[in-house]
Amino acid sequence: MFNIRNPVRIDQEQSAKSFPGVSGTGAAAGRIRILKHLQSALEKHGNHDNNTAMTLNRKSAFDKAAAAWDEKPRRVRLAGDVANAVKSRIPLGPEMDALDFGCGTGLLTLALQPFVRSITGVDSSAGMLSMLAEKTQQQGVSNVDTRLLDIEQDEVLTGSYHLVVSSMTLHHIPQVEQLFDQFKNILIPGGYLGVADLDAEGGKFHEDNTGVFHFGFDRAELARELTAAGFRDVADVTASEITKQPAENHTESFTVFLLTARA
Ligand SMILES: C[S@@+](CC[C@H](N)C(=O)[O-])C[C@H]1O[C@@H](n2cnc3c(N)ncnc32)[C@H](O)[C@@H]1O
Repeated sequence: MFNIRNPVRIDQEQSAKSFPGVSGTGAAAGRIRILKHLQSALEKHGNHDNNTAMTLNRKSAFDKAAAAWDEKPRRVRLAGDVANAVKSRIPLGPEMDALDFGCGTGLLTLALQPFVRSITGVDSSAGMLSMLAEKTQQQGVSNVDTRLLDIEQDEVLTGSYHLVVSSMTLHHIPQVEQLFDQFKNILIPGGYLGVADLDAEGGKFHEDNTGVFHFGFDRAELARELTAAGFRDVADVTASEITKQPAENHTESFTVFLLTARA
């Protein structure tokens, strides 16, 4: 029987069983087309359910982590290293409007804020954004804005920016090519991009890989994708190194790159 949830092998025998009233060679091809169409529609529906569940899991995981996010010194140090790499590679200035995609609690956003006119922190987690809003208020900072947006829910980045940055978020995005297209769309011609993330890490970085779509990246491959999205002057640098101790007597090191490019 045709199973709507599981991938099926569609052949003439099966199609004949599913549509017994339709026969003949042309009819068989027609039946196969109908089955393929049905399969694709139903798989889409199934994937939609799975994606929705995964999105809710991801959001609630980041919402829960938000309050204690900045308590891990390595996160604060990493954001500082990425901010320094951005500052040394990209000429920031008081005429620039910036966007930090996947800003979290705003560790990078707030480190870059003094060097630009404005910076908008975009994130899909309301918990993360409320931590950022609280910090901006406490610090009396007036040029930081927040925007709740989930790129996986087909929500689109809008506006016009001189700089787009993103740190440690790319590995949570299934289709990075589409995100690069969106970055290109919101950057003014000649605007700057700075994306930081893990080099290929074999799945060892996170204790739980739920919501992790890439076990780090091959820089050269990402650079090619940036070029394909229309970016130029693509370059990379190692921005930071993170050491973790998953077990006693055992440490693991992970490097974080910064890829820069111009729209
Ligand atoms: C590992 S955290 C990094 C946060 C921050 N950039 C930092 O370095 O501390 C990844 C962030 O990306 C956000 N994120 C994940 N998927 C997203 C999506 N589809 N759209 C927007 N933000 C997303 C998460 O909510 C989370 O705050």
